[in-house]
Amino acid sequence: MKQFNVGIIGATGMVGQRFAILLENHPWFNVTTLAASPRSAGKSYKDAVGNRWAMPKPMPKALENIIIHDAVADMDKITKSVDFVFCAVDMNKDDTKALEDAYAKAECPVISNNSAHRGTEDVPMIVPEINPEHSQIIHAQRERLGTERGFIAVKSNCSIQSYVPALHPLMDYGVSKVLACTYQAISGAGKTFETWPEMVDNVIPFIGGEESKSELEPLKVWGTIEGDKIVDATAPSITTQCIRVPAADGHMAAVFVSFDKKPSIDEIKSRWADFAGEPQKLNLPSAPKKFLHYFEEENRPQTRLDRDAENGMAVSIGRLREDSQYDYKFVCLSHNTIRGAAGGAVLMAELLAAQGFMD
Ligand SMILES: NC(=O)c1ccc[n+]([C@@H]2O[C@H](COP(=O)([O-])OP(=O)(O)OC[C@H]3O[C@@H](n4cnc5c(N)ncnc54)[C@H](OP(=O)(O)O)[C@@H]3O)[C@@H](O)[C@H]2O)c1
Repeated sequence: MKQFNVGIIGATGMVGQRFAILLENHPWFNVTTLAASPRSAGKSYKDAVGNRWAMPKPMPKALENIIIHDAVADMDKITKSVDFVFCAVDMNKDDTKALEDAYAKAECPVISNNSAHRGTEDVPMIVPEINPEHSQIIHAQRERLGTERGFIAVKSNCSIQSYVPALHPLMDYGVSKVLACTYQAISGAGKTFETWPEMVDNVIPFIGGEESKSELEPLKVWGTIEGDKIVDATAPSITTQCIRVPAADGHMAAVFVSFDKKPSIDEIKSRWADFAGEPQKLNLPSAPKKFLHYFEEENRPQTRLDRDAENGMAVSIGRLREDSQYDYKFVCLSHNTIRGAAGGAVLMAELLAAQGFMD
């Protein structure tokens, strides 16, 4: 595979730091450029992050002394020096859209963790194991933007990353109704227990905007390309409650599901055991060998024991059983800043590179 020079926009933040760790020694992607807000611009990465480093591993040595660019003011310089960028910024929706549009129009593909463009009809929202074919909409998007290389592709919200993969291999049984309660880690808000001490010994029953994202985004992921847009799926009907819990990393979901044609427990388990997507078939560098791990133990998956399964890229499932009001219920878990954010974006970029969209 060709080598690509890449930039991280929002490099100083929680997701940006994850990109820095995940891309250290990446076989295809070489981080050459870092950018953030004017507050960080002009400082070395080490100084700009200071005591905000929240990763379990030290900052990669090769990045420590890179001088941070201003993501907006230095855009020309950045887009000329990299093949594409990963983007994870804490900006309002309009500014984020304007930033991502400007990079794409400057012929620099944007692999985004931000929500601003998730609803844009010709911007693919790709979970590589589920809808790799949605990348084909990039041709229509490039036509709209007037670009040859530039485009935007987005990651879904981290909240859906546990339950959508578990439901996907069951879709041909006619998944009709889903209720999901998510129990979400504090890193999902870009925080640690040091920066958010109120979360110690506490549960907060509200995460702004999360429930509508959790109910709508799966329908885009399961949607189909029609002409120059992605049209949302019309089923299943999904309702959610999203709750912040005192875990550092790892989003858990308690899921209830009904089907048009109810499968047996053994059929569900064998669908999960046998499931492999395009990343596994293509043997992409960040793909987990096995995407879905089912536990027979009744007290698994557990956040601390299982969030790092396959380097944080696998989804863990357990406690599948019959329910009195829905057909079945089960629990699932994914690492929110790895599979749910930076890791999922790196895998998406690998898929797009393998499909030729980064050439
Ligand atoms: N955390 C997660 O699990 C997760 C999961 C999925 C998606 N996301 C999304 O990813 C994005 C980043 O989240 P995060 O948790 O990493 O946030 P964060 O820790 O607060 O980091 C925000 C980043 O944005 C930069 N930034 C802020 N204002 C900027 C500006 N005006 N111009 C350029 N850069 C600016 C910050 O730079 P400075 O350091 O210079 O201020 C920092 O690098 C958000 O859109 C979030 O919704 C997060």
